[in-house]
Amino acid sequence: MRFADSVVLVTGGASGLGEAVARRAVAAGAKGVAIVDANSEKAFALAGELGDSTLAIPTDVTDPVQVTRAIDESVARFGRIDTLVGCAGIPYAQRTIDREGHAPAMDWWRKVIEVNLIGMFDVASKTAAAMSHNEAGADGERGVIIMTASVAAFEGQVGQTAYSASKGGIVGMTLPLARDLAAVGVRVLTIAPGLIDTPIYDLAPPGLKEALGETTVFPKRLGRAAEFAQLAEALAENAYMNGEVVRMDAAIRMAPK
Ligand SMILES: NC(=O)c1ccc[n+]([C@@H]2O[C@H](COP(=O)([O-])OP(=O)(O)OC[C@H]3O[C@@H](n4cnc5c(N)ncnc54)[C@H](O)[C@@H]3O)[C@@H](O)[C@H]2O)c1
Repeated sequence: MRFADSVVLVTGGASGLGEAVARRAVAAGAKGVAIVDANSEKAFALAGELGDSTLAIPTDVTDPVQVTRAIDESVARFGRIDTLVGCAGIPYAQRTIDREGHAPAMDWWRKVIEVNLIGMFDVASKTAAAMSHNEAGADGERGVIIMTASVAAFEGQVGQTAYSASKGGIVGMTLPLARDLAAVGVRVLTIAPGLIDTPIYDLAPPGLKEALGETTVFPKRLGRAAEFAQLAEALAENAYMNGEVVRMDAAIRMAPK
């Protein structure tokens, strides 16, 4: 599935990795790019910049009604959805017990799972339902779903129980989703990024990004959002890639802290 002449829906599409995917899809000549994001201001600003082939759809992926509406609006505007790239996600770090030996309230734990994992499944399943009505292309392919996990799925750091569980959940559901959706010709893949330079580091203290860049094997730098978008398009295009999780991380293996 090429980005050119196709319809791409990107959750978390207003910032960072998702924004890079939206930009790449527009540059590739996509027929339509739906920018689905809870941050309506940024979503509308990006769609305004990228032009008529884009549609900003303010959406909280944890609200099933909003998710349904986002997919319906995309299909109504562009006729179909060919590729979903799911990037909506939130980071969070909190130790399992605090310095006084108390377990935290569960709100934050639930929230991270709700956004990163349940939201991803809801968007994926509803988009797949829409894709199942697409006309089949070569090999009977009707669509591609690309989800975003993290190396924290494998090497969660101190304080990352919720985040790692949410991303591990995405890794775990990649193959069963691919198996389920084979019946309708939809491939499912997951990218597990390492440390990528996006607005999540905007509040980082001076020097942190450089220090983090030193923790990779090679190259010694943070990844670029454009490199993520390039991989997403490559996975969408390669018809024999399915049911797989691909790390994009300069061979990093995360330390405990
Ligand atoms: N940047 C990294 O180093 C890195 C590494 C591994 C994984 N990831 C994952 O990549 C994804 C994108 O991260 P990023 O670095 O681009 O971050 P980002 O904060 O720049 O972008 C995330 C986007 O998701 C949106 N979002 C958050 N909650 C949402 C919700 N409930 N509904 C809809 N949209 C919502 C935000 O508004 C934001 O625009 C996340 O899932 C993140 O966990 C990032």
